[in-house]
Amino acid sequence: MTDPIATLRWLIEMGADEAIAETPQNRLDGAKSKPKLEAAAVPAVAPEPERAPAPAILAPKVPFAAAPAPAAAVEQSARTLAASARTLEELADALHAFDGCPLKYTATKLVFADGNPKAEVMLVGEAPGSDEDRDGRPFVGPSGQLLDRMMEAIGLRRAENFYLANTVYWRPPGNRSPTQAETAACLPFIQRQIELAGPKILVLVGGAAAKTLLNRPDGITRLRGRRFEYETQGLGGPIPALATYHPAFLLRQPSQKREAWQDILTLREMIDYLRK
Ligand code: URA
Repeated sequence: MTDPIATLRWLIEMGADEAIAETPQNRLDGAKSKPKLEAAAVPAVAPEPERAPAPAILAPKVPFAAAPAPAAAVEQSARTLAASARTLEELADALHAFDGCPLKYTATKLVFADGNPKAEVMLVGEAPGSDEDRDGRPFVGPSGQLLDRMMEAIGLRRAENFYLANTVYWRPPGNRSPTQAETAACLPFIQRQIELAGPKILVLVGGAAAKTLLNRPDGITRLRGRRFEYETQGLGGPIPALATYHPAFLLRQPSQKREAWQDILTLREMIDYLRK
């Protein structure tokens, strides 16, 4: 007999980790509710054996005929779409229209941004988790709450003093890390989002965001606490960037909070320097 716990673990690993669907499903009613075919429409070949209907959560939302586009074409279309946005609202619309990141079809919501887009400080994390996927805003789960407490400790409140986004806009199933292709497909959009928000300081939250936006191979232990310059064509000049540990890592490794606190103090110094 199948071990139900092992089956559940497997489902979670495959990304089916939420027992929700848009409408109630009677999974025992599959055979009864199957529509009857008109006599003329019955195929000549032997019918497939009856199967239980696939659970809605696993059913792909990808259009049936869609074949994955080559990576270069996806990146080109992402660049064109992102560059055409003249405001953050237009950029969010462009992302809604963008079909190049397959995560869009397994996620519940596009997670675009939160906080004050006019703030001096912009934070960029890696990718939404399950709380963000449900809510549609970045960093609303436990790691976001820790991030808010860290920022509040230096006098910065989300609603007023900082703006937040991620390098990837849709939740990877099962909270896995985004693949290189998924990150590359979203990169032109986060670069454009930074240009349009125009922060004076960029904070890269975690190794993935730091590597992606600084385009460096180093791990976060080498990058954290250091000041970098971040620049893209549409930015009108380099801006200071600081990398720090991801709060999800700090929740797992509280002993690293001491170093994260140093980074937060560095951020405070950078803001004070800017205002002099
Ligand atoms: N982790 C991230 O990197 N971003 C979020 O929005 C949530 C968790």
